[in-house]
Amino acid sequence: MDPTVTLPAGESIPALGQGTWQMAERSGRRAQEIEALRLGVELGMTLIDTAEMYGEGAAEELVAEALAGERERLFLVSKVYPHNAGRQGVIEACERSLRRLKTDRLDLYLLHWRGSVPLEETVASFEELRRSGKIRHWGVSNFDVDDMEELLGVPAGENCATNQVLYNVTRRGPEFDLSPWMRAHGMPLMAYSPIEQGRLPRGGALQAIAKAHEASPFQIALAWLLNRPGVIAIPKASSVQHVQENHRALEITLTPEDLAAIDAEFPAPKRKRPLEMI
Ligand SMILES: NC(=O)c1ccc[n+]([C@@H]2O[C@H](COP(=O)([O-])OP(=O)(O)OC[C@H]3O[C@@H](n4cnc5c(N)ncnc54)[C@H](OP(=O)(O)O)[C@@H]3O)[C@@H](O)[C@H]2O)c1
Repeated sequence: MDPTVTLPAGESIPALGQGTWQMAERSGRRAQEIEALRLGVELGMTLIDTAEMYGEGAAEELVAEALAGERERLFLVSKVYPHNAGRQGVIEACERSLRRLKTDRLDLYLLHWRGSVPLEETVASFEELRRSGKIRHWGVSNFDVDDMEELLGVPAGENCATNQVLYNVTRRGPEFDLSPWMRAHGMPLMAYSPIEQGRLPRGGALQAIAKAHEASPFQIALAWLLNRPGVIAIPKASSVQHVQENHRALEITLTPEDLAAIDAEFPAPKRKRPLEMI
């Protein structure tokens, strides 16, 4: 049984999912991307993260094509642009996403990042979408602690299910205050760019640990994230080989020595760092 994390409402979802940013952008890679997503779902990586922004809707359409017939197994996540996050804009953006995804509901709908629309408006629309069954949960993305505090101050803000942020072994800033804050509020943290977009350092601790586990540094970075309670990782992979490797990260158990070597090279933050974004 693959690891899961629990949403505040009590539902368990996979701790290892699949991202889709930059998919559907090159026609020559389409078949390969579809094959990769399908294999990932077959292996149990049924949480799919997409957004209206990705390929301006093309990634959502690719997800629909790749995963036709699989809807019941999926936990589908999409995101609304901040400029669509007004009272009526959210409803319309969600309906467009549902049409592109060829489904009647999203499992999780996120505000992609904070814009100028008051949070009250966005949350009121998320709640309306939830009541009408078009979304099952809602959350935010790229919110730092001060944004989360503000969110909890608006009506129904406490219904936020998660916050999706940049978090990986080379970007540990959220550990100072954001991830403890989220744990204290019973919210899982969804880690995006979990393998630093494929740009992890060559050599060093990750390489040495990878060698000892007959794995790659990317698998070690994923295993490190998956070792942390309440964290969901959503690597994007557009080849079956990468999907298989990412899934195999679930089998890696890092030793206390591995974790210490990682801490020595990538120390946990000792002071507040503003939340980074990609
Ligand atoms: N909320 C936000 O603002 C936000 C921002 C960024 C990302 N995200 C979400 O998070 C997802 C993941 O982040 P990301 O796409 O930025 O970066 P990522 O998942 O850290 O890295 C993706 C890159 O790593 C490569 N890769 C995947 N598996 C690999 C493996 N086993 N070995 C070596 N290379 C591997 C991929 O190559 P191939 O494609 O060739 O396999 C791709 O180039 C996105 O797709 C998106 O859904 C959200």
